[in-house]
Amino acid sequence: MYQANEKRYEHMKYLRCGRSGILMPRVALGLWHNFGSVDQYENMRALLFEAFDQGITHFDLANNYGPVYGSAEENFGRIMENDLRSYRDEILLSTKAGYDMWPGPYGNYGSRKYLISSLDQSLKRMKVDYVDIFYHHRPDPETPLEETMGALSDIVRQGKALYVGISNYKAEETKRAAEILRKNGTPLLIHQPRYNMFDRWIEDGLLTVLKEEGAGSIVFSPLAQGILTDKYLNGIPEGSRATRNHFLKSENITNTVLDKVRLLNQIASQRGQTLAEMSLSWVLRNDSVTTVLIGASKPEQIRENVRIVDNLYFTEEELNRIENILGN
Ligand SMILES: NC(=O)c1ccc[n+]([C@@H]2O[C@H](COP(=O)([O-])OP(=O)(O)OC[C@H]3O[C@@H](n4cnc5c(N)ncnc54)[C@H](OP(=O)(O)O)[C@@H]3O)[C@@H](O)[C@H]2O)c1
Repeated sequence: MYQANEKRYEHMKYLRCGRSGILMPRVALGLWHNFGSVDQYENMRALLFEAFDQGITHFDLANNYGPVYGSAEENFGRIMENDLRSYRDEILLSTKAGYDMWPGPYGNYGSRKYLISSLDQSLKRMKVDYVDIFYHHRPDPETPLEETMGALSDIVRQGKALYVGISNYKAEETKRAAEILRKNGTPLLIHQPRYNMFDRWIEDGLLTVLKEEGAGSIVFSPLAQGILTDKYLNGIPEGSRATRNHFLKSENITNTVLDKVRLLNQIASQRGQTLAEMSLSWVLRNDSVTTVLIGASKPEQIRENVRIVDNLYFTEEELNRIENILGN
């Protein structure tokens, strides 16, 4: 039976999410990879326990994380039941619906029918009565936004989620969604976009909208799925995500990319960080991003990644050097 580390709150830093009262850990753990039915159960436990022992109070899931779809939630539910039940009130748990989940017209996108039935399924799989945050996973151009946001608001009223979030919405869509949610009395807590040194679209409008709306942000794939670490500098190591060649394709790890990674790695070591650490610190370099959402295949990666909360500061010179590398 797991017993949490008594010192778990001594190192992690927490920041309020937008204008809400909820404190988010600066580093959170996502269960997209390494928690499916194809993965090792004991490793999943080790990852969750390591994270929680490091003060990571937030775990991020989605209905379709696996493979197979639903299996990450099922595995999380098994660990919740067997090991984490007594810590439920210390855990901020999220799930999402928006992508393909089950066959037929009601298992995808953004209808009220899909969102409400999907969350009911997620709660059963995760063996919890409610989630803390429920997200619409991606915008649906064919469902009226009022319907999708209305479903999120009703889910909060039903007590099945405490807060609502959206993911992968562009700046303009976010503004409209936030307006509807505010009118409904269930304000937008958080947006979950992709953000890393190689993908900076949120700097072009979204962060401004979130600030205006008083919403926070939790950014995914901050290491570009592992590219922004030193792991691919000498080829593709056994067991790494690129060997699966599915979401991270080995053909995307080109020499041009690796040349940049090599230069970034030099700056990281001059800062006394690994490249993984510097890439994560850079994402949190100013407080416009609330939380960095990491993935991990090994507990050591979590231990390494949480070290960043002590080193989020960059000099102007470091930032300029990074800009020059990214811009070329
Ligand atoms: N909302 C959305 O649409 C969406 C989309 C994608 C992800 N997400 C969320 O964001 C979470 C994180 O995404 P992500 O997994 O792509 O994030 P990421 O942090 O960019 O990549 C994680 C991977 O990087 C490698 N890694 C992590 N720490 C490392 C270290 N210190 N040194 C070397 N390698 C390291 C590991 O890969 P190896 O397996 O190679 O060890 C790990 O699985 C997901 O779990 C999910 O919750 C959301």
